Amino acid sequence: MGKPVPHDTEFSDAGALVYGDNLPLMRALSEGTCDLIYLDPPFKTLKVRGSRDGADYDDRWPGGTQGYLDFLRPRLIEVHRLLSEKGSLYLHLDWRVVHYAKVELDRIFGPDNFLNEIIWSYRTGGLSKRRFARKHDTILLYAKSNGNHTFNLVRAGAFRTDGLKHDRRGRLYKNTRNGPLYFHSEGPALTDVWDIPFLSTVSSERTGYPSQKPEALLARIIEASSDPGDLVADFFCGSGTTCAVAARLDRRWLGCDHSEEAVAVAALRLGTEPHEQGRSLTDT
Ligand SMILES: C[S@@+](CC[C@H](N)C(=O)[O-])C[C@H]1O[C@@H](n2cnc3c(N)ncnc32)[C@H](O)[C@@H]1O
Repeated sequence: MGKPVPHDTEFSDAGALVYGDNLPLMRALSEGTCDLIYLDPPFKTLKVRGSRDGADYDDRWPGGTQGYLDFLRPRLIEVHRLLSEKGSLYLHLDWRVVHYAKVELDRIFGPDNFLNEIIWSYRTGGLSKRRFARKHDTILLYAKSNGNHTFNLVRAGAFRTDGLKHDRRGRLYKNTRNGPLYFHSEGPALTDVWDIPFLSTVSSERTGYPSQKPEALLARIIEASSDPGDLVADFFCGSGTTCAVAARLDRRWLGCDHSEEAVAVAALRLGTEPHEQGRSLTDT
């Protein structure tokens, strides 16, 4: 891996993938550079994974939850600085630490900039006989400046049709005391509960990287909270899902990961040569 870390101006074209720790990279970027940041950090699963080529994924935290938050907090502070006035953060976690992270984000962004707790619901994996099966992740959505943030209403799924009628032009409506009430032709507005299947073990989307997220999830986030030409950043990019979807949707993108394995997978997926963090940056 070769190219030095890009300067801000290099994001003006298409995208950049950086190999290295995300904190020095964030600190080296200018305030307000990013329009949308998606973070999918380790979830504090306490698991260690070895891959065939010997690269490890270590999600154990000396110091427990406090140790984990000591890692996350400075990164969230940088994310807040990096977002543009119209920018948003999506922080993807699960039951283990999301509630602690919410408290941190309220402190950093201010509670008035909290927009949504998104539930990503899926049905993968085993069941428990001792409690309800845990079948969702939680994604916290914050605006840099609530009211100035980009938000494109997304419509998905279908209305319940029992009791509804179609008019002569095929439009769905119901009769109310005030006359016919028409339903939007593109379906209901999306709520904060998202039913999106996990990647199946045989999905053609699979790169082989263990914690890879579905492109459908990222497409929804990117379409809702950015516009073509915006810069979408993922500082825990893993296999590069966010960057791949951002590129497809005509956004500029920035990905970073400190795992050699992840960056190799992402580079192949994105058809790019990664930048490598220089000593001057890692020393900061
Ligand atoms: C849950 S995975 C992300 C998966 C990704 N969303 C995808 O679709 O492939 C978390 C990633 O964070 C990376 N990571 C953890 N700590 C990091 C750090 N300090 N700097 C950069 N990357 C880090 C890990 O190597 C891992 O690839």
